[in-house]
Amino acid sequence: MIVDERTITYLHSLELPESDMIEKIEQEALESHVPIIRKETQSFLKVLLLMKKPLRILEIGAAVGFSAILMSEYMPEGGHITTIENYEKRIPIALENIKRVGRKEQITLLEGDALEIMKTLQGPYDFIFMDAAKGQYIQYMPEAIRLLAPGGVLVSDNVLQDGDIIKSRFAVERRNRTIHSRMREYLYQLKHDDRLQTSILPLGDGIALSVRR
Ligand SMILES: C[S@@+](CC[C@H](N)C(=O)[O-])C[C@H]1O[C@@H](n2cnc3c(N)ncnc32)[C@H](O)[C@@H]1O
Repeated sequence: MIVDERTITYLHSLELPESDMIEKIEQEALESHVPIIRKETQSFLKVLLLMKKPLRILEIGAAVGFSAILMSEYMPEGGHITTIENYEKRIPIALENIKRVGRKEQITLLEGDALEIMKTLQGPYDFIFMDAAKGQYIQYMPEAIRLLAPGGVLVSDNVLQDGDIIKSRFAVERRNRTIHSRMREYLYQLKHDDRLQTSILPLGDGIALSVRR
């Protein structure tokens, strides 16, 4: 946890509920231990979407469709979301959830490996939300930059890894070391790539907010 629990609880207490169906989908995801975006991240995405008003959105990591559905509530009229998921058990649930909220026209779920699918996509996208396998962000990065429109926004979630990112490699559990070093490399590249301007925020589990120059 990056921010202390009492602060998070207080911030959550200020949040207003979404529609009954979105609340239900969130609850079902949490009850079945599907990793979905936290309340703080939800709140941040909503503000970004209302500011940026992206018409074409790409999400890497749909899980059961919760964040795509939430984003579809805050994108402008005429907006469209393409989201990618490769976990067979989650795909039918995501499709069903998209149907439940009546967003089949606005949200397209592409089934398969994110990197392979990204290579086949045509840009430009105005907004990319990266929320899939953390150890693969560094591999998605060239494709994400290729797909982003000038002025487009890239949001990468879970970049501070519950605070592990600041620890030395040897203080991190052995099984997390590869992800740790790849994420450090990713953050370094985001900050040093002159095609991007990036701010890294200790929000939720850490968010990197980048703009394509
Ligand atoms: C954190 S969850 C996404 C949560 C979702 N964005 C939300 O907040 O509702 C990450 C998802 O990425 C998927 N994923 C991981 N690696 C992937 C890959 N290589 N290709 C496609 N999906 C992948 C996982 O199966 C998982 O469902």
